[in-house]
Amino acid sequence: MILLLAVVVAAALRLAPAVAELTVVEHPPKTEGSLNVLAVGDWGRRGQFNQTLVAEQMGLVGEKLGIDFVISTGDNIYDDGIANTSDPLFKECFTNIYTAQSLQTPWYIVLGNHDYTGNALAQQDPAIREVDSRYLSIAKSFIVNSDVADFFLVDTSPFYLKYWNSTKYDWRNVAPRDTYIETLLKDLDDALTVSEAPWKIVVGHHPISSACEHGNTTELQQLLRPILEACMTLSYCLLSFNFCLPIDLDELRN
Ligand SMILES: *[C@@H]1O[C@H](CO)[C@@H](O)[C@H](O)[C@H]1NC(C)=O
Ligand SMILES: *[C@@H]1O[C@H](CO)[C@@H](O)[C@H](O)[C@H]1NC(C)=O
Ligand SMILES: *[C@@H]1O[C@H](CO)[C@@H](O)[C@H](O)[C@H]1NC(C)=O
Ligand SMILES: *[C@@H]1O[C@H](CO)[C@@H](O)[C@H](O)[C@H]1NC(C)=O
Repeated sequence: MILLLAVVVAAALRLAPAVAELTVVEHPPKTEGSLNVLAVGDWGRRGQFNQTLVAEQMGLVGEKLGIDFVISTGDNIYDDGIANTSDPLFKECFTNIYTAQSLQTPWYIVLGNHDYTGNALAQQDPAIREVDSRYLSIAKSFIVNSDVADFFLVDTSPFYLKYWNSTKYDWRNVAPRDTYIETLLKDLDDALTVSEAPWKIVVGHHPISSACEHGNTTELQQLLRPILEACMTLSYCLLSFNFCLPIDLDELRN
């Protein structure tokens, strides 16, 4: 539905009080230190809704930039995620669509609300990586450490009370909500604090503030925003409908 990318530039590094509990994936940049990434959200439509056209362009841009990995901001599989790790929808929406050579990199993936109305655990199941080894939704929230940048992938769907109150969503391994959110925010805060990367990029499916149709998210404004603001000098939000964003850190710096 929507994606949020908050770019956090560390003004001053605080001392590290605790070791982050969030899983960390090490993905070193290229040998000369550069890193090129594509970010995409709201995509799994069996090629429809122009998914195939966007995938082709991602392939071309990915080739040109020599991308290191792809980030997915969620709503990976419409309308209701996957039913299990052998659901044919997975290949129809992912494997069979992103076929370009340049996209045969790791994909670091968070869930969106549409993934949660299916079997949300199936997307993190190691069996899904046997179907396609690129699909790295290794935990609901996790960190990709790339030296020049740390990417903090945050599971935002459980914050929404309107989703939480609906029986459509798969809250296994999430409920009780209060404990889940409290632990997630503490782990995120700790991880942002200890991170020494020049760029800290927080990735989530839902925006904190938006002037578009979905509007602001009260729960994220109250709970997530203070943690980001504590170490943020620059941030932006983007609306996405199967939209792909190349992230060029040099460009952002200017
Ligand atoms: C696909 O993109 C074209 C413009 O390139 C647009 O006119 C069309 O409505 C899109 N189709 C869907 C199903 O979104
Ligand atoms: C997995 O999900 C698909 C799609 O709903 C279904 O056809 C299939 O029977 C399921 N397989 C297993 C092993 O449950
Ligand atoms: C969801 O349920 C909680 C408690 O059960 C209630 O306080 C809240 O108003 C509900 N929110 C929405 C958006 O339905
Ligand atoms: C949404 O959030 C922004 C930024 O905090 C605020 O300026 C704006 O007034 C809010 N909009 C609404 C409709 O509450």
